[in-house]
This record gives sequence, C-alpha cells and structure tokens, in this order.
Amino acid sequence: MVGIKDVARQAKVSVGTVSNVINRPEMVAEKTRERVLAVIDRLGYVRSESARQLRAGRSRIIALLVLDMANPFFAEVASGAERAARATGLGVMLCNSAQSPTEEADYLSLFAEHRVRGVLIMPADPTGRSLENFRRHGIPLVYVDREVPRAEACSVSVDDVTGGTLAVRHLLECGHHGITYISGPMHLAQCQDRRTGALNALAEAGLPGSALRHIEVERLDVPAGRDAGARLLALSPRPTAVFCANDLLALGVLQTLYGAGVRIPEDVALVGYDDIEFAAAAAVPLTSVRQPAFRMGRAAADLLIEETGGGAEEHEHQRIVLQPELVVRESSRVSHRG
Ligand code: RIB
Repeated sequence: MVGIKDVARQAKVSVGTVSNVINRPEMVAEKTRERVLAVIDRLGYVRSESARQLRAGRSRIIALLVLDMANPFFAEVASGAERAARATGLGVMLCNSAQSPTEEADYLSLFAEHRVRGVLIMPADPTGRSLENFRRHGIPLVYVDREVPRAEACSVSVDDVTGGTLAVRHLLECGHHGITYISGPMHLAQCQDRRTGALNALAEAGLPGSALRHIEVERLDVPAGRDAGARLLALSPRPTAVFCANDLLALGVLQTLYGAGVRIPEDVALVGYDDIEFAAAAAVPLTSVRQPAFRMGRAAADLLIEETGGGAEEHEHQRIVLQPELVVRESSRVSHRG
C-alpha cells in the first residue's frame, strides 16, 4: 500500500506538506499543491482517515450504498443490514448513489479512504468500472439486490424473473391481454429480469412477446411514474393493465390516471413491485410483488461480517437468491372480460 512518505519522497516535499495538501490545501503554494496531487494520483495513494483503526485493528463500519435512499424499499434493506451489524457490535453507514455511476465512484473512493470493514452495494454503473477499481483496495464487497457469479463475490438477490412472471400471470388470469410494462432504465438488471419474467408469463399463455408494450423511464420514482401515466393516457388503444418495475412508479401512475378520471382497476388494472408500506396504504390499495427486503439486507450483512471477521479463512462466497411473493389488492382485483 502506498504511504504518505512515498508521496513526499516522489514530490520532493516533507510529509507535513503532503498532509497539508490533503487537509489544509490553502496553506500550500499552488504549484507545490499541484505537484503533490499529481504524485498522489500517479501512485494511487489513498489517504487513510482511519489510520488509528488500521493500527488498532479493523474498522467497525460497514458501508451500504443504495440506488435511491428515498425509496422505502432500500430503507427496509438497510434495516435488515443494520440489525445484523449491530448484533456483532458493528455499525452501518448508509449512502446514496442516486442511480449515478459518478456518485457511486465517489462513494467507493470515500469508503477506501476510510478503510471501511466492507461494502454492501447495489450497483449503479452498468460497466462495473468503479467496482473493479475499488477491488484493488482489498475491501470485501457483497452485492445486494443483484446476482453475481460466486467466484466474484457474495450476493443476495431476489428472483426478479419469477417476480415478473407472477405479476403478469396474475393479470392474464384476470383476463387482460393489453398489458404495458413500465420499467426504469433497462441497464439495471432488476428492470431487465422483471421484463423477462413478464415475457415468460405471456409465452406460458401462448401469447407473443409483442403483446407486452414497454415504456422505459429514467428514474424509478413517483415523478417518473406520473410522467409514464401521462404517456399511458396518450396510448391508443389504451392498455387495460399496467405492470410497473417498482411501487413508486406504480403510485405515480395511479396518481395520474386517477386524476384523469380513469378507474383503477375497472378501466386499468395496476401491479407494482417491492410491496413497500405505502402500497397497501394507497388510495386504491396496490397489488405488488413483495420482495423480502429486510431478509435480503440482513443476509447480505451476515455474509460480509463472516467474510471480514473471524470466519474469514473458511469463508467461501455464497450466492443467495430469495423468492418474491404476489400480494393481490384492490388495484387489480376485478376480472376483465374486454
Ligand atoms: O432500485 C429500483 C428497484 O429495484 C427498487 O424499487 C427495488 O425493486 C429494486 O429491486
């Protein structure tokens, strides 16, 4: 690991000057500061904010990086992780990538600087580049809500293909054939897998994949759901059923359709995904595919704690895939015999 003395030697300055460049840059002449920063970048020096922790042993902080902190689904995942961490005297630092690869990379740098014990991550960067760079720091990673090969790392996810099948099979059984899938960005594996499952349900019923219309939105939140709802209203013929990649999208769609006088489920049946607490509390209680979010967070933290604790030597990466469950409520309950 590159140390502060290596940087000082290469930059031909004192250790104190390097420390000032990092902590009090205003005290260092600009040309010196730039020369030191260039050496830091070239050597890949990572300042260790927690050097004391390194000398005294491991950090007691686990970092959890989620895609959208405002989404109650991730709060539930974080609760599970936090309970597992607390049970072993550790803490969880919750951070938000906001679906941004750039923000993901910034947080991974922060985690490396602070030498956290390990990282639970829901990747935002489809290229995986920032995670590959992060691996050089030797800090264990566990993927959450994403399945990866066991050779690479531990992962805990939910079978989203089955989840998509449960949602659309239910709508087909209610008599719907004009179904639209509203997804978030399709570079997210969650959105891809849910669509795959939806297509599998159509195939089971002997229907072509073209029977599933698809609206892709950039964000998996309520405003994006409202926008998607406006796009649904413009479709002709209008779908009689809508499957949304998560509950926040579905709640946004519900708000727009309801405001336009569209009856849910009589005119349009609606199914979400996650079964967050607000699904049951919606104006028209939302049918949703429940993910065991708390269990997912707890299982991921347990794997990371084993990999970074006393059991590290015997640790073998595991891939845990949990099963979703369909919860039927008023938003899709009526049969459609159109
Ligand atoms: O992050 C977007 C969605 O993917 C969440 O709502 C949850 O469903 C996750 O799996």
